[in-house]
Amino acid sequence: MYKKIACLLPLLCLVMWVAAQKKTIDQKVDSVLRLMTLAEKIGQMNQLSNDFVATGPITKDGDKQDKVRKGMIGSYLNVYGAERTRSLQEIAMQSRLKIPLLFGQDVIHGFRTIFPVPLAEAASWDIAAMEQSARIAAIEASAQGLHWTFAPMVDIGRDPRWGRVMEGAGEDPYLGALVAAARVKGFQGKGLGNTDAMMACVKHFAAYGAAVGGRDYNSVDMSLMHLNQFFLPPYKAASLAGAATFMNSFNDLNGIPATANKYLQRDLLKGQWGFKGFVVSDWGSIGEMIDHGYAKDNYEAAMLAVKAGSDMDMESRSYTNNLEKLVKDKKVDIAVVDDAVKRILRKKFEMGLFDDPYRFSNVEREKQQYSNPEHIKFAREISRKSIVLLKNEQNILPLPKLGKTIAFVGPFVKAISDHNGFWSFDWEDDSTRITTIWDAAGKKGSNKLLYAAGCGITDSSKAGFEEAIAAANQSDIIVFTAGEKRDMSGEAKSRSNIQFPGVQEDLIKALVATGKPVVVLIAAGRPLVFNYTADNAKGILYTWWLGTEAGNAIADVLFGDYNPSGKLPMSFPRTEGQIPIYYNYFNTGRPAKNETDRNYVSAYTDLLNTPKYPFGFGLSYTSFEYGEIVLNKKTISATENLVATITVKNTGAVAGEEVVQLYIRDLVGSVVRPVKELKGFQKIALRAGESKTVSFTVKPDDLKFYNNEVKFILEPGDFKIFIGGNSTAVKEAAFKMQ
Ligand code: BGC
Repeated sequence: MYKKIACLLPLLCLVMWVAAQKKTIDQKVDSVLRLMTLAEKIGQMNQLSNDFVATGPITKDGDKQDKVRKGMIGSYLNVYGAERTRSLQEIAMQSRLKIPLLFGQDVIHGFRTIFPVPLAEAASWDIAAMEQSARIAAIEASAQGLHWTFAPMVDIGRDPRWGRVMEGAGEDPYLGALVAAARVKGFQGKGLGNTDAMMACVKHFAAYGAAVGGRDYNSVDMSLMHLNQFFLPPYKAASLAGAATFMNSFNDLNGIPATANKYLQRDLLKGQWGFKGFVVSDWGSIGEMIDHGYAKDNYEAAMLAVKAGSDMDMESRSYTNNLEKLVKDKKVDIAVVDDAVKRILRKKFEMGLFDDPYRFSNVEREKQQYSNPEHIKFAREISRKSIVLLKNEQNILPLPKLGKTIAFVGPFVKAISDHNGFWSFDWEDDSTRITTIWDAAGKKGSNKLLYAAGCGITDSSKAGFEEAIAAANQSDIIVFTAGEKRDMSGEAKSRSNIQFPGVQEDLIKALVATGKPVVVLIAAGRPLVFNYTADNAKGILYTWWLGTEAGNAIADVLFGDYNPSGKLPMSFPRTEGQIPIYYNYFNTGRPAKNETDRNYVSAYTDLLNTPKYPFGFGLSYTSFEYGEIVLNKKTISATENLVATITVKNTGAVAGEEVVQLYIRDLVGSVVRPVKELKGFQKIALRAGESKTVSFTVKPDDLKFYNNEVKFILEPGDFKIFIGGNSTAVKEAAFKMQ
């Protein structure tokens, strides 16, 4: 008898094992939830930072490791490294229920290999490349035990005073939505559960980029029509792409802090959009509702946030300190807490952490990804694609590779960290991997190169001018490198003056005065104002902050080994007085007839309305000619597609790439409609003299818009279509929808 049972035992185990495997993740989550005390549930909703990196005040509150041991912390941010994450996870495994920790980090533009800042990458208009950039970042960061990146930031940015425009894809909802979805896919790879897939965190929900006056953390007040039409599309696209998590934002939106905004988090995100992941607050944003004047104290703040759908508290301790009492006082239903905890546990199961909490903390893998040559190669490619050629008078660029004396002047010629930009963490210990512009230029041909720093980035001293001018006088061409220090754009880096800091422009003037042709390279995280340079330099390359391969990529473009094809993802203002500035504005009842029309029209008396460089703008070392637009129909029905075709010819002497952009205008609507809206683009490569026919399909959905009742509607009427190489595209055609 016993023998028989013993024989059957393995089979019984197998059956039980199969049954366990069959449990869905939801069932597994429920079975863990049933075991949890209220305190343990609240622990899962609590995220704390390690103390070595911080973007806000850190509360010293005793031994965090002890809290992990008691199951009072669900997630850490700012802890990475295979060994460090493993040792913290080991402590979590000493807790009663052994629920693994999640490790999150701001992996914004690469990790070991630093890629161009997201705004720069957006200038490539190469969606696949942006997905790949996020993919590589996830491969490198996950190898250091990280499960979760606080990216992509998908906030629409129309105000270059706001330092965080560097983290997004610029001003356009259509481009922004494509980039948002691509970056989510890149980070999450083949899906959660793979050890090189990180959870994406779409931020900051919502409209954080519309802070009044471009001042970080400031209020946002806009109609729901405007919000839905121009600001929400990238968040929605990211959610549809399967983003695992969202982060809410610091700003109040129409009077309600985003952290406690039920409309955003419950009605839209978790309701209409069907988002199944969890929402983390921004750093301390739950507690900050007291300063907003929206909550009396942390008790009330915790109540408002959790009810509105903020599932995890980053660093404010409001949940830890108040949620238990709130439930006991019957101010918060336990079902609300359970829903938040389930969302968090679900992700931990999906990541495979309940099966093996250490699966990301692998020292071998970490070593392999420490300096991956394939990743560095890719960094050079995407960096070159991100560079925008703004000016090229008399084809001063590309520079010849021999026979000339070229003076390299300015604070970025030998810079290392300033090319990396804000949010670059794990490169510091190995700056030998970085080639400066100076070293990279030295490898291009056999010119004689001269160097003088001339000035620092923010210096007020002109002591170095003399040496710089002497070098300039001995040269045939001057290359000046101007821009912002790596921490001048980024969080809490709003600037009211977005011109070159320090005495850089004075030095440019002195160099121009030598009479030698000056080429200016601009390194920055945002659009800057540089009118003197724009008008007096012979050539200008906007090189942003390109990261690890900045030097090589810049030299490739400078000396013609790569023909630039980047296009601006934001309008560049003439002065700060034009901000906010964006191409998809409304016409108003008094539009100016031309640039000089000031006759009681919507214009400045002292400034043009047009930007210095429009959205979508960027030159090439070759030139492109656009034919006429051909439409397959002049009239379509509400269910029909329209096909627009155009021929583009490379009329220059070298091969090049062009981003062909399609815009529409809805001439009359039940609400006013923008003068132009991007609805499609294609990046094409053309050999010298080659022509290609590009065709776009405009779908009924592309013509829809949000009305005043926030309904997404299609209205019959007259439309215009524009195709060209930037948002001032002049080729146009008309069609009707009935
Ligand atoms: C930022 C977030 C970031 C968080 C964690 C906050 O201050 O607004 O974007 O993810 O800090 O570092």
